[in-house]
Amino acid sequence: MIVCEYRPGLEGIPAAQSSISFVDGQKGLLEYRGIRIEELAEKSTFLETAYLLIWGELPTAEELAAFEDEVRHHRRIKYRIRDMMKSFPESGHPMDALQASAAALGLFYARRDLDNPVYIRDAVVRLLATIPTMVAAFQLMRKGNDPVRPNDDLDYAANFLYMLNEKEPDPLAARIFDVCLILHAEHTMNASTFSARVTASTLTDPYAVVASAVGTLGGPLHGGANEEVIQMLEEIGSVENVRPYIEDKLQQKAKIMGFGHRVYKVKDPRAMILQNLAEKLFAKFGNDKFYDIAQEMERVVEEKLGHKGIYPNVDFYSGLVYRKLGIPTDLFTPIFAIARVAGWLAHWKEQLAENRIFRPTQVYNGRHDIPYTAIDQR
Ligand code: ACO
Repeated sequence: MIVCEYRPGLEGIPAAQSSISFVDGQKGLLEYRGIRIEELAEKSTFLETAYLLIWGELPTAEELAAFEDEVRHHRRIKYRIRDMMKSFPESGHPMDALQASAAALGLFYARRDLDNPVYIRDAVVRLLATIPTMVAAFQLMRKGNDPVRPNDDLDYAANFLYMLNEKEPDPLAARIFDVCLILHAEHTMNASTFSARVTASTLTDPYAVVASAVGTLGGPLHGGANEEVIQMLEEIGSVENVRPYIEDKLQQKAKIMGFGHRVYKVKDPRAMILQNLAEKLFAKFGNDKFYDIAQEMERVVEEKLGHKGIYPNVDFYSGLVYRKLGIPTDLFTPIFAIARVAGWLAHWKEQLAENRIFRPTQVYNGRHDIPYTAIDQR
């Protein structure tokens, strides 16, 4: 039964009822569980925000301490997973490595005891704790190094940067990275979250849910855009080249990476926060010519495409921040995944609470009553 017209990309069609996050694309407003993103970016930490998203309320001091402790004590990955990752080709994309590794967790922990709150909490903790370790481990192993053990003295963000760079990060760098994770933790019914909910609706295990979402996040129209932003800034190379580059792209009807959003028709609030963070980083660690190029791009794109509601999205400035933190370009999307695991898990729990398997319909536009043609007559 067709209940509404076909809309490519399901634009404007609700796929779930959700109380996790809210976006007003006209006002540039984003809330997690009713709290403005600006406030969380200023006052919260990623793990506290993850708790808020997943359990619906900010934790008390005791609840937060217990949660942080559990995550801290589950950061190590099994030797067998590490050995499996060691056999991945070094030339493989880290998102593919992450998807395979997240799915592999299911080989060890997939009991599918979905009615048991202890199982749910265990899966939440395990995924939040081990995904950063897996991202950092693949990065070191593809360079031929041994992975660095998680450091129990460091918090979530600082520990990730420590495992990645093999040294303790500057506290400002660690705090900025933690805010980046907060900003990327959740964003209503985007493609990867939809993918997570569809997978969750079959009552499979949470590792399969996260693995399917990671696979979806990897595409250049979704999480993969921030990698392409850096490649684009490198290709442009100077402020003078910005205008001709954009005019040329628009003439070819190509998309300018890091701009435009299905929901936001004004500047993405996360892009504004990230732009401020980028400025703080440059003030402390030295300027970056790519920031000047980015600002000029923002001016020219607004002039050319502002009337269509095309403004910078979250990916435009996140790449600049990660680059300044010394993170390799192809880890930008895995880092997005580290953050978004919180949102995916919140949607997994919400889907389970009122589950019905996803089974949409389609508008068939093929032929009917075609006779079978024998192979020698085709
Ligand atoms: N550059 C140039 N033109 C653009 C851009 C862009 N980045 N984005 C949209 N437009 C134009 C389209 O060509 C279209 O023009 P038309 O009406 O004249 O045909 C109009 O704006 C509407 O665009 P759609 O493609 O219909 O918008 P949609 O909602 O389908 O796509 C998307 C949104 C995929 C994000 C798109 O803007 C895009 O491809 N941007 C670049 C990739 C990117 O930065 N992705 C990250 C998104 S944020 C995230 O996933 C975390």
